Formats: sequence, structure tokens, C-alpha cells
Amino acid sequence: MGVLFDEKSKTFHLRAKGVSYIFNILDGGHLAHLYYGKSITEDFPDLFRPSNRAAFNAPSFENYSFSLDLIMREYPTYGGGDLRSPAFAAEKDGVNFCDLRYMEHKIYQGKRKLEGLPCLYAKDSDVDTLELTLFDDLLNLKVVLSYCVFKNYPVISRSVKVINEGESVILKNVMSASVGFDHMDFRLMQLHGSWARERFVEISPLKHGLLSIDSRRGASSHALNPFMALASPDCGENCGEVYAFSFIYSGNFSMQVEVDEYDTTRVNVGINPFNFSWKLDKGGVFQSPEVVFCYSDEGFGNMSRTFHDLYNNHLIRGKYKKSPRPVLLNSWEAVYFNFNEERLYSLAKSAAEIGAEIFVLDDGWFGERNDDRTSLVDWYVNTQKIRGGLNPLISKINALGLKFGIWVEPEMVSPKSRLYEEHPDWCLHIEGRNRTTARSQLILDFSREDVCEYIYNTIRKLLSEHNIEYVKWDMNRNFSEIGSVKYAQGEVPHRYILGLYGVLERLVSEFPNVLFESCSGGGGRFDAGMLYYMPQTWTSDNTDAISRLKIHYGTSMVYPPSSMGSHFSACPNHQTGRVTPVKTRFNVAITGNFGLEFDPANLKEDEKEVLKAGIKKYKEIRHLLQYGDLYRLKNPFVDNAGAFMFVSKEKDEFFVSFTNILTEANSPLKRLKLSGLVPGYVYKNVDNHEIMSGSLLMNYGLKIPHFSGDFASYTWHFRKI
Ligand code: GLA
Repeated sequence: MGVLFDEKSKTFHLRAKGVSYIFNILDGGHLAHLYYGKSITEDFPDLFRPSNRAAFNAPSFENYSFSLDLIMREYPTYGGGDLRSPAFAAEKDGVNFCDLRYMEHKIYQGKRKLEGLPCLYAKDSDVDTLELTLFDDLLNLKVVLSYCVFKNYPVISRSVKVINEGESVILKNVMSASVGFDHMDFRLMQLHGSWARERFVEISPLKHGLLSIDSRRGASSHALNPFMALASPDCGENCGEVYAFSFIYSGNFSMQVEVDEYDTTRVNVGINPFNFSWKLDKGGVFQSPEVVFCYSDEGFGNMSRTFHDLYNNHLIRGKYKKSPRPVLLNSWEAVYFNFNEERLYSLAKSAAEIGAEIFVLDDGWFGERNDDRTSLVDWYVNTQKIRGGLNPLISKINALGLKFGIWVEPEMVSPKSRLYEEHPDWCLHIEGRNRTTARSQLILDFSREDVCEYIYNTIRKLLSEHNIEYVKWDMNRNFSEIGSVKYAQGEVPHRYILGLYGVLERLVSEFPNVLFESCSGGGGRFDAGMLYYMPQTWTSDNTDAISRLKIHYGTSMVYPPSSMGSHFSACPNHQTGRVTPVKTRFNVAITGNFGLEFDPANLKEDEKEVLKAGIKKYKEIRHLLQYGDLYRLKNPFVDNAGAFMFVSKEKDEFFVSFTNILTEANSPLKRLKLSGLVPGYVYKNVDNHEIMSGSLLMNYGLKIPHFSGDFASYTWHFRKI
């Protein structure tokens, strides 16, 4: 395990758990990528294949078949004959050309933090790092490629640091990593979506040419998640090879897949080069975000379990890392903007009665906020609605045995606000252009230190002066006029994200007992970058149980169930108008990080009892649901059902949630085969005491009861005896 280097053949072999990643230094100092995949026993196999093809841009007549365009490259630059998509481009005096060659490398135990950016962390004994420095001697520019090799995971994470020792250059493209494959025999999996239908799974064959899964929206976005996977054609949930890439970043990103004329596949992952430019003066350093490479030879299921464990153990931080996530009741769908102190108290009271642990006051509590058109940035209580102020309300809610949480949207300013009148240049804007007010709001210019300082102090004051133990940090629009009075346009989106990360880092360190949940119109910024600061994300504004089958299926490809905010809500559902049984809404909601978003007082007595009993049981097994191994048993994108199974790490307990979608008259009898158990273990159904072996459960399966009505749902809970 770790990083091996052979001086003679100038070959690097990175060995993560079950994985080999091999590349070498060519005679001229360029790096050639050789292999990435399942572990190879030879330390330094001879894998370089000189091309026997005539190159249209060979550097010399003597060696007509060598060209950078014909090899797989470890970190391709723009300039020098490789005409595919570069991972790096730098411009000086109007010339875009860079020639990076090997300079030196070092190998050490452990992993460094990335200054100002979210990143994986690990004990020194868990990771070996290779730092390889490339150098352009005309520009005097160093580019340090970092590879962190995880010993207990099939994972290598990568990032890039640029150090300018020459005159100023403009960085046009700094991808965090590039990797090549000498074939195109893959299916591409991506997670696309929109508001209220985030992270839908889409799988397509690769084609020649360039595809970019990306965002230019200033946030990772609802539209495309910063994740993609290349999978072997036979790949399924439990079989086949997968090369997955997850980017630890919350802003404009690009995941490029390019297949060239010889069927070679190149993957570049990093900050979106579209309209990116970064002036790096002499002595300046630019650090790219980190990208995670995850390999699985047991399909998408194993890939997801690797990501879940990796992110739970090496990304998410603080008090709530691996600890039970509380059941919260969020006021949004219960009362929207229409409440006063009494209404909130009665809502909190009914929340407490059925077993909630935190009461979250969503939008509408501040400034003059009676709809979504005003008051963002006026983070003081609306005393028309909450006459006594926040503290007396919080005390009353605490007296019910509930913690108190609050909604904020600190990156925004309403045009109708004192702050905007005083500082019209504090928002992103372009002089002379119209300022787009999506959802009646403008985006504060977080690339500016003074704006960040102001917002940090405002939120800090709010948290210091009140007993607030949970914060929902929202961000409800995308960028439009991208401009700052302080920085050139090409720097603004990344500087914005750095500013945001800086504010979050200070707040989460200063308030370690507060549980932060990120949100962006639901799941518009559900990414690994945000999870570093806030251990959970509001998965989607769509709380409909049947919609959630797909949303949870797709989201769980990368993100752990503990991070996926998932609420039981009213019926008919507010987003879809669908009518579903209480049991179904509950059974689906608990496959994420469970909460409530309705007024329990509106339930019929018998329904309330079902929910109350469900919540009691959920609390007993939430560790299993939040941190157990997830197996997706049914795919709602292709099956008429969704099913999620959670198995304890010791494999001595499991829970299954199955939901049928539409019912058929006189339908065939159905079974549900389980996964992830020990065949020889004997398990007992906690509710009806039925006894079944692991082999029976995995090969014959559970007998699914005959459905009556649409959207029927069942759960099973077994323990080993
Ligand atoms: C966004 C969030 C919702 C809610 C509203 C409040 O849409 O995703 O959950 O907080 O804002 O305005």
C-alpha cells in the first residue's frame, strides 16, 4: 500500500486498497499515464506503448510516431502538440502556452490540509501522499500534483497547487486532476435534475468528442451534481467496474470526458474553466480543490458504500459526525410565512408530542418578511410576528423539551433593505447593467472580505445572543451579473466560494454545538464541499414520498443517508398533489435523515399514533439507518418500486424499507432478495419473530405482501440470533 517509485524506469505505482494507479516520467520529462484500475501485483510492470501511428504533430522527423497527442497524459497542458482538452492552461503576454516537465517529487505519510478549502482528512497512518512538482522553465511556473492514497479505501484523492516564481501569468484553467483510459468501453453515469427533482440517475454510452458535466451557476447546482462515474458496460448495482469522481467543491465545476480518434478516454475534473481567469503574480500560489477518485469492482452499490464511509469518516466533522441526527420539525410547509408567536408555540407543542427533538423556525421570522420579497440581510426578529422577541419564544420551546433551530439565507440581500441602500455595491453586479433579482433578491459579493466580515459578524451575533442549536443555511438563486468592484470577473465565482468557505469555517468552529444544515432551494448545493462544513443538506424541496424514492436513489450514489435531510410532510403533498398513506410517507422519509415538515395537529388520531410509534422505533434504530451499509434493492427509475436496505457493520442487524408505486389488479406474487448479509447467520424478524438464514434472505428473499392500493409500503427489521 502507499506510493512506490522505481528510479530506473521512472515509474510511480500508487496502491490504494485493491487499486493500482501507475504512471511514469518520459525521457523529456513529460508524464505518461499508464494504468488505473484493479490492483496489479507487479510493482513496476512495463506498460508504456510507444505509438506506431503517424502523428500529425510529431515534434521531430526522427520520431514521427511520438506526439503528446498520442499518449495518455497525467496532467495535460495547453500547448506542445496535445490537442485534446487540457487540464492546465496559463497565459503570459497574451500567449496561451505552457510546457510542464518533471522537476522533483516527495512521498510522505499523511495528508495536508488544503488552505481555505474543504478536503478529506485522515490520520498519518491511513494515507500516503505523493507530491510531484512539474516546472515550466520559460514561465518559471511550478505545478505541484498531489496524490493522496488511502490504505483502507479504494480511493485516491488529488489536487493541484500552482506556484509562480516568474513574472505575472493569467491562469486560464487549473483542473484538479486528469486521468486517461486506453479505451472507451464505458457507460457514463451522471446525476442531473432541477428544482424538486434533484439527482436523477442518467446512464449513457460514451461518444467521441467532448462532454462536460458542469455548472456555471455559481453553485454546484440542481442541474448537474459534481459527480460522475465511468462504468463497464455490464455494470449494475452489485457487479461490474466503476471509476467514480466526486469533486469536493460547491461552485462552478467541470467534469470533462473526452474520447479521441483512437478511442482513448480522458477525464478532467476541476473548477470550470469557462470564463475563469486568475492573475497569479510573482510569488503567488493558487490551490485547486480536491477531487476523489473511487474505484469499485462490485458495481454502483459498493461505490456508494465507499463514498458513504469515506465522507462519514474523513470529510464530515464536528459534534454530529457519526452521532445520531436529531428528529426535527421544520415550520416551512406547516405555516410558510403565516405565523405569530402563538402559532409557532402550538406547532412546537404538537411536534414535541409526537417525538420531535428540534423545532426549526424557517423563513419569515425576521425584518418585515411576510413573503419572499423583502428583508434578506435584516437578521433581527420581526416583532410584529414574534412580539416578545426570539429569546422568550426559544425558552418556551426549550421548556417543551425541544431544541430550537433557525433558517437564514446569509448570502443574499433584498433590494428593499437598509443594507442595500447603504451599500449598493455589496452585491454581485456589473456597472451599467440591469441587476437581476431572482426571487426578489441579489447575491452578496462574498468575494469581498468586508462583505464576508459583515455577514460573519451578523450571524455570529444571532447565534451568540440566542440559544440556537441548529441552523438551516439557505441559498435560493444562481448567479447572473457576475461582477465585483474588487476583482476581475474571471476570479469572482471562485473567490465567492472561498469567501463563503471562510465564513463557514469561522462559524462552525466558533459554534461547535450547532448542527448546520445546508440548503439551496432544496438540493441545489448538495455537494461534498458543503458537507465539510455542514454535516447535512436539505435534499429537495420535494417532500413527496414517491418522488423521494428517485431523489434518494440518486443522491445516495455519493452522499451518506445521514446527510440527506428527509421529511415526512402533509397529504396531499404540497409539491405534487399526490395522496399517499401515512405509513408510506414515514417509511420513505426514514431512508434519509428523518424529520417532519407539517403540522401534526392536522393528523387524524389513529394516524398520529402510527407516526408517533414510528418515530419511537426510528429513534431506537436510527444509528443503523444513518450509518449502516446501504443496499439499494429496487431502482425506482426502472422498477415500479423503490427499496432501501440498511445493514449494520457487524452484519448482525438490518432494516428494509420497500415501497411499491402503482398497483396492478391480480398482480403476480413478488419476492424481494436482500443483499449484504452473512449467508450462515440466522436472523429473527423483530416484529413477528420469523426466523430466516442470511442465505434464504439473499437467495429466496422476503415475501412481499399482496398490495392493496397504490403506494403501498412495508418495512422489515431483523436481528441475528
Ligand atoms: C427554500 C428552501 C425551503 C424553504 C424556503 C424558504 O426554498 O429550500 O426549504 O426554506 O427556501 O423560503
